[in-house]
Amino acid sequence: MKRSFITVAVIAIFLLFFISCYYDNEEALYPTLNSSCDTTNVTFSGTIAPMLNNNCYSCHSDATASFGAGIHLQSFSDVVTNSARVVAAIKQTGPYPMPPGGKLNSCSVTQYDIWVRNGMPNN
Ligand code: HEC
Repeated sequence: MKRSFITVAVIAIFLLFFISCYYDNEEALYPTLNSSCDTTNVTFSGTIAPMLNNNCYSCHSDATASFGAGIHLQSFSDVVTNSARVVAAIKQTGPYPMPPGGKLNSCSVTQYDIWVRNGMPNN
């Protein structure tokens, strides 16, 4: 009986410790980002499309999709349609890590995440 009380007390103290250290801010959520990564003005036209253009359109533009298994990532609606797969691909958590043979910088991965979290606006 006494021992179970001590166990509960220890767990409670640990929980308190972890809760008190929880900061829901950008630095804590994305510790690897440097200050030059713009996480506030993330837009489709200014952030997402240029990133895809630089890293993906050799195989996923409307003209080149035959090199990328027929996955189109050029028009806004095609990007939205494929977005869940894009997230898995660029986070490299799924079966097809993208781009092949490399990884995007963490800023681009985070910006894509932010765009998805914002509801994939066409801005
Ligand atoms: C050199 C060509 C090439 C480049 C560059 C490339 N891909 Fe791909 N991608 C492929 C191929 C080929 C496949 C088909 C899967 C496979 O065979 O590996 C594919 C598949 C995919 C898929 C579908 C995965 C699934 O779940 O079915 C997504 C999403 C994707 N690529 C996103 C991207 C993104 C985003 C980029 C840029 C960051 C990118 N790709 C860059 C060739 C490429």
